[in-house]
Amino acid sequence: MSEEALFTGRAGQSVAIESRSRSRLGLVVTGLVGGSLVALYAVATPFVAPALRKICLPFVPATTAQVENVLNALRARSGTLVDIGSGDGRIVIAAARHGFLASGFELNPWLVWYSRYKAWREGVHRSTSFHISDLWKVSFAQYSNVVIFGVPQMMDKLELKLESELPSSAKVVACRFPFPNWVPEHIAGEGVDTVWVYNAESFKSLQHCGAVKKTTSENADTAESNL
Ligand SMILES: C[S@@+](CC[C@H](N)C(=O)[O-])C[C@H]1O[C@@H](n2cnc3c(N)ncnc32)[C@H](O)[C@@H]1O
Repeated sequence: MSEEALFTGRAGQSVAIESRSRSRLGLVVTGLVGGSLVALYAVATPFVAPALRKICLPFVPATTAQVENVLNALRARSGTLVDIGSGDGRIVIAAARHGFLASGFELNPWLVWYSRYKAWREGVHRSTSFHISDLWKVSFAQYSNVVIFGVPQMMDKLELKLESELPSSAKVVACRFPFPNWVPEHIAGEGVDTVWVYNAESFKSLQHCGAVKKTTSENADTAESNL
């Protein structure tokens, strides 16, 4: 074989190797970009989804002052506590530190997993529990202290649900937005950190003019059609 032919053969081989490694690199880059997009979609969807519902209840964490106001409002209380829409678990964890057996119900699985991790890290995992659940599909009958940081559009429906489920001994604390028909026994804090405290005994005896009290499942149907 002539020197020229040998050179041409080697050059051809190296071009083939180069083009193979380039196409492999292309595959790796496509895989990485595709994988990152899928991961981003999986993480972002639960945070964006509430904005697409009819009643938008987004993740807005309670401020430190708000958490303090909640705990002060329940200072003389003990037993079970639930935070409806528990976000990153800050109210549940703070309540557990104050001796409550505290639970959170939250639609966003990432926030629930993060809350469980935080509770474990802060050493209160034995007195806390976090559930990936739709608030309209569970009963809060077993809780004697209820906390809700909701939005005005959902408060009238939640009133009916809690009226039918909670025992007369329960207390309810609403953060930032009050319930429309109940009369609070106490209001604490100011501005966005305001909390309204309600006594179940008084709101259970309150009659809604023209409103029909609904069971949990009926409430769930109504709420679903609204969300
Ligand atoms: C305003 S944030 C309050 C978070 C937390 N309670 C706090 O004060 O820091 C409302 C939370 O409710 C959750 N959420 C929205 N719709 C829900 C539903 N149908 N069931 C359960 N949680 C829901 C949102 O993901 C969000 O984390």
